[in-house]
Amino acid sequence: MRLDCCFNIEDLRQLARQRLPRPIFDFLEGGADDEWTIRRNAERFDAYPLMPRTLVDVSAIDTRTRLLGRDTAWPVVVAPTGANALFHHTGEAAVARAAAESGIFYTAATMSNQSLEEIGTLVDAPRIFQVYVFRDRGLTEALVERCRASRYDALCVTVDTPLSGNRERDRRNGMSMPPRWTPTNLWQFAVRPRWSLNSLLRTHFEIANFRGAAKGAAAGSGPVLQYVNSQFDRTLTWKDAGWLAAKWNGPFALKGILSVDDARRALDIGASAIWLSNHGGRQADGVPAPVDCLAAIRAAVGDRIEIILDGGVRRGTHVLKALALGANACAIGRPPLYGLAAGGQAGVERALGILRSELERDMALIGCPTLKDVGSHFLAPALDT
Ligand SMILES: Cc1cc2nc3c(=O)[nH]c(=O)nc-3n(C[C@H](O)[C@H](O)[C@H](O)COP(=O)(O)O)c2cc1C
Repeated sequence: MRLDCCFNIEDLRQLARQRLPRPIFDFLEGGADDEWTIRRNAERFDAYPLMPRTLVDVSAIDTRTRLLGRDTAWPVVVAPTGANALFHHTGEAAVARAAAESGIFYTAATMSNQSLEEIGTLVDAPRIFQVYVFRDRGLTEALVERCRASRYDALCVTVDTPLSGNRERDRRNGMSMPPRWTPTNLWQFAVRPRWSLNSLLRTHFEIANFRGAAKGAAAGSGPVLQYVNSQFDRTLTWKDAGWLAAKWNGPFALKGILSVDDARRALDIGASAIWLSNHGGRQADGVPAPVDCLAAIRAAVGDRIEIILDGGVRRGTHVLKALALGANACAIGRPPLYGLAAGGQAGVERALGILRSELERDMALIGCPTLKDVGSHFLAPALDT
């Protein structure tokens, strides 16, 4: 399959599967435990049919909106995903550039292979930085100050990761960072020669935001990763989230909220956005699909806070459904990575282009020319699927 023969996100996923060695594709695709949550994330959009309105002038479709204090061309955010160099040697730079071309927010991950400063100088587009509150608060404070210096627009703190989820595919594949070739997995890399050659000759794999952070670890990403993993803090509470919001003192999102109570508490600490997410099913398995939590959360918080939703967004109709249920925007994690693996920056552009044109077409088809018009009146009664 070629990139120009990919007509939807599923096609890009198939092409990514053809391009990546099995352990790498599994790292991208997989989730925790039985992966029930991953399946639900996508399936649950089917429970909310759209109700079209007819005889509306849809000659001009306007997808622009505002989010976290910035204008954005359409209501989708590229979600934070670590270690993008695994999927293509051009890594985060390719994804950030494609997001900028498309006029949407790019979220740089703490665990990226290019540093937040490198990404910052590459693109002058809306940018979020995803941070963790680490055991060593000084480490988090330093990242926050670096974001300020690099003029990031917003900070998002991931709150669903007191420790890493149980990703059995990675354990079975012996997945490590950087990937190690062993007698048992050598064949899986050998059958993907293009990826393997690029990985050997062109990929500089490091957890770039922590260059030199761990004593004696600068020589390799393995020890740095161990050091960063040891910094995840199981004692984290709302007090720490409030501390971080006050320290940043700018547009601030909490990523990983699913419950109404937590959404209310996000309001209490002065967050500007709730990022409704289950980490794409990679953390706790057996938790609800974000789309099922959306209406109740919007009803509880009213218009006092923005809502970003991620998890299973693969179609323009999914974006429309989320907006009709009360989200301000959706975020996408795997779709840009499928594109990246399928064809570098051109592949990410393809993924974003597909979603954007689907959204524009779907808005016209349901008689909704601007995002101001989106509301629950575009939803038919929910199905009991
Ligand atoms: C390969 C991969 C790496 C990820 N890394 C991070 C991360 O470093 N920080 C984070 O907050 N979320 C991370 N996520 C979760 C995404 O930000 C997002 O919540 C999720 O992918 C959305 O679901 P979707 O993939 O179905 O769109 C990662 C997801 C994937 C697939």
